[in-house]
Formats: sequence, C-alpha cells, structure tokens
Amino acid sequence: FFNVKKTQPLQGKKLLITAGPTRENIDPVRFIMNRSTGKMGYAIAEQAEKMGAQVTLVSGPVSLAPPANVNVIDVESAAEMHKEVLKHFTDADAVIKTAAVADYTPKFHHEHKMKKQPGESSIPLVGTADILKELGSKKDKQILVGFAAETENVEQYAIGKLQKKNIDMIVANNVAAEGAGFGTDTNIVTLFKRDGSKTELPKMSKTDVAKNILREVSRMLKKE
Ligand code: CTP
Ligand code: CA
Repeated sequence: FFNVKKTQPLQGKKLLITAGPTRENIDPVRFIMNRSTGKMGYAIAEQAEKMGAQVTLVSGPVSLAPPANVNVIDVESAAEMHKEVLKHFTDADAVIKTAAVADYTPKFHHEHKMKKQPGESSIPLVGTADILKELGSKKDKQILVGFAAETENVEQYAIGKLQKKNIDMIVANNVAAEGAGFGTDTNIVTLFKRDGSKTELPKMSKTDVAKNILREVSRMLKKE
C-alpha cells in the first residue's frame, strides 16, 4: 500500500529521440558539421526516461554524457542516422527529431587527404535524405515531433515544415535570439500543433523546455 507508485505520464511508451549534429566527411582529416551540441535532445531523452518512457537516443557526435537508463546509439553521418532511425521507427510510439541533420554531404568521400591546388576550389555536394519527411509518409500510429531551427520568418517556416513533413508538432526555435539556440543551457521555443494550436514558451532551461514538449507528447499519445 505504501509502495504504490503514481503511474508516470509516459509509462510503457517507446520514444525514439535524435540529437546533435551530423558529421559529413570530406577526406580522412576534414568534415562538414553544424553548431548543434546535442543539449536539447539529451535533455529530452533524460526527461522522457524520468517520465517512465523506454528511450532510444540516436546521437550524432557530441561531448555529452549518455543519460542514465537510455539506449544510446552513436552515429556520425546523416546516412547513418537515417539507417538507425528507420530501424527503430516501427517499434516507436513517438519520435522526437531534435538532431540538426546535414542537408548536404560531399559527393566524394576521399580515401586520402586532398592536396591543395593553386587558385579557387569547391567541394561538390549532394542532398541527404529528409529523415523526418520519410517518417511522415510512413507513419501509422506514431506521434512525430520535429524541430525547426530558424533565424528569420520563424513561424511561417515552422508551420511550412509541419505541413510538408506531415508531422504532429513542430518546435520552432529562433537560434538567433539571445538565450536560445546552439550551446546555450536555455532556449526560447514555440510549439505548433497540427490542430492549429500555438504555445509560446518564455525563455527557460532546456530541461524545462523538454518537460513541456513531453507533456504535449503524452497528451497526443492519449488522444490517439
Ligand atoms: N530533418 C531530418 N532529415 C534531414 C533534415 C532535417 O530528419 N535531412 C529534420 C530535423 O531533425 C528537424 C526537422 O527535420 O526535426 C527540420 O529540420 P530543418 O533543418 O529545420 O528543416 P529542413 O527541412 O532541413 O529545411 P531548411 O534546412 O531548408 O530550413
Ligand atoms: Ca536543414
């Protein structure tokens, strides 16, 4: 009687979360990467586990400690992230795609260090697969949450992504704002849902942002 635990909001739910940047190799000594540090995605993974979920975290290269009791799968490139996410997708109840996936990868991943040449140079790039868009076209029961990192026209771009990718909620993030974006411990986000709702959150810790996002996910899972 005294040991009865309150049921956790995400008890028994399987959450698939992605975090961090991806790293696209040019040659053995050089790569293309972005400014994502993984803090937001790791905060979501940690909080989801505390809320009772079974969490798989597909992580790009970051320098953060793996959250306790979370199944962490380390990847480097967008192609590797794509493969791992698809592998775990069918099993998931909800997917939260926090990762900053590279939109392009070098067309050639040179086996040997490239040598400098006189004059101008360029690296040919090819597009990567849009993982979230693919999930949106494949989903049956899964709740899908995306992030939109923007520096202008935040609302317009975010809602565009919500529709184009066929997802349930998008977390819009003005990465140019003070106290938001890459590497900070705080964030300023607005949540847009498919039903047209808009929730503007004030500046808060990434842990609290994570709790707000997961509360919405838990609500959407109950409505199914
Ligand atoms: N995303 C993805 N696969 C990609 C690119 C993006 O799964 N190849 C996901 C991100 O994880 C994020 C969402 O899509 O949840 C939006 O990413 P973002 O870079 O903001 O949007 P893009 O659609 O790539 O558009 P753009 O970069 O032109 O703004
Ligand atoms: Ca992008």
